[in-house]
Amino acid sequence: MSAKNEIKSVSDMGVLILAAGMGKRMRSSLPKVLHDLAGKPLLFHVLNQVRSVCPRASVGLVVGNGREQVEAYVRSEPFFSELEITFIHQAEQKGTGHAARCALDAQWGVERLKKKQPVLVLPGDLPLISDSLVRAVGAPLESNSVLRVLTCSLVDPSGYGRIVRSSDGISVQRIVEEKDASAEERRIAEVATSIYLFDSDFLSRSLQQLTPNNAQGEYYLTDLVAMASRGGFGVSALEWADADLLRGVNDPWELAQARQIFNEKCIKKWAIQGVQFLDPRSVRIECLVTLGAEVTIDGGVVLQGTTQIGDRSTIGPHAVLKNVKILADVTIKAGTVAEDSAIHSFAQVGPNSHLRPGSEVGAHSKIGNFVELKKTKVGSSTSIAHLSYLGDAVVGDRVNIGCGFVTCNFDGRIIEGQRKHKTVIEDDVFLGSACQAVAPITIGKGAYIASGSTITQNVEPGSLAIARARQVNKPDYAKKLRD
Ligand code: UD1
Ligand code: CA
Repeated sequence: MSAKNEIKSVSDMGVLILAAGMGKRMRSSLPKVLHDLAGKPLLFHVLNQVRSVCPRASVGLVVGNGREQVEAYVRSEPFFSELEITFIHQAEQKGTGHAARCALDAQWGVERLKKKQPVLVLPGDLPLISDSLVRAVGAPLESNSVLRVLTCSLVDPSGYGRIVRSSDGISVQRIVEEKDASAEERRIAEVATSIYLFDSDFLSRSLQQLTPNNAQGEYYLTDLVAMASRGGFGVSALEWADADLLRGVNDPWELAQARQIFNEKCIKKWAIQGVQFLDPRSVRIECLVTLGAEVTIDGGVVLQGTTQIGDRSTIGPHAVLKNVKILADVTIKAGTVAEDSAIHSFAQVGPNSHLRPGSEVGAHSKIGNFVELKKTKVGSSTSIAHLSYLGDAVVGDRVNIGCGFVTCNFDGRIIEGQRKHKTVIEDDVFLGSACQAVAPITIGKGAYIASGSTITQNVEPGSLAIARARQVNKPDYAKKLRD
């Protein structure tokens, strides 16, 4: 469906996101909406649904607690650079109704009223909402109603506001917060989700009449439902079947559960597209990761950031990959850790390799066990198979690096402003085992370096370099030593 069609299916509306609350129950100094879920803050997930359903909506974002941090995050997020977002300051957090009132009193609200735009309210702490849910709530209001309230039924509704319906169960009369509910009301399984679509005129008028006469002494947005129903206005209720999408995040345990639900949905999405998971429960995949066709992912794998895995590649157990671009037919073996790096087709990496930021492995190359690369570009069909460290190096094609090679890239000197020095190993070089290269240094094309050499001077192309003391054998000397 094109973006244009999607906009038609929802109202021409303002979107109000409530994100000023203290988030006290999180017991954290980080504002609640900035807590991470699958690689992005909670607020990202809410705004991202808004962006995908109604990219041209005018968004009012109510901020208060930790507002500098929240605003700085939203401003810096490239995903939202095209969204029209107005920050609304709620200086004191006196409840959800008060937050909405701050927005309606601000210029943002004045414009919504002037344009007679309905207002979609979303709390910043419901990160699992889907686009179809936003589209359903955002559909134009029925002509006789002033608000639509989204509800769902929970096996354990504790903590949520309960939906009180008329005795015939048809109309919604009010929402009662758990702290204000009677024992009988607490048994109601249908709960308020804090997602609504309001007629802006009704919203503005009734927010002015709200009072904080309740157990928490707060202005409750939920009270607008009773105000509408008492005033004889239509209240439409939309009960959402998939209650998992409507989990609020109020404390670290709810956040942990939201992470689990999100991850499971993400893995299922990829599995349906052809990715094979050998132990799906133990795998974690963040929201911006992309996986190609026929990829296989073993247990304990963590894929983070903008990691991309190409077609037919295999990721072995317990690999942790962050912002790594992997092309097709790559094999990543157990325990490999890589970050901000690229791996080309048919390469093999691991087990237990470490690719630190800025590394690149060429096609058909092999990076073996306990090899660490840092800012190192390796060409194609090159082998660095065992126990080596290469930092700030450029390695050509068809190079063979034996076991235990070390680039000595840091010697305390600063040369031309660089603390770390570069090692260049040109195409077709053969490095025997247990060598070191003291950078800055270049080993020319096709050179041959004898095992155990410590190379301190450039090696001309095609040369043999031997840089170790010549061996001396002293007959019968061992016995003398022992004696
Ligand atoms: C709210 C609802 C409850 C519903 C639940 C669903 C009210 C009174 N209660 O409860 O019926 O079942 O959501 O998840 O609305 N916020 C502000 N300013 C404030 C207070 C809150 O911006 O002064 C924001 C918070 O940052 C949060 C959202 O509003 O994103 C909801 O607030 P929260 O305190 O989490 O409400 P709940 O107790 O979850
Ligand atoms: Ca909440």
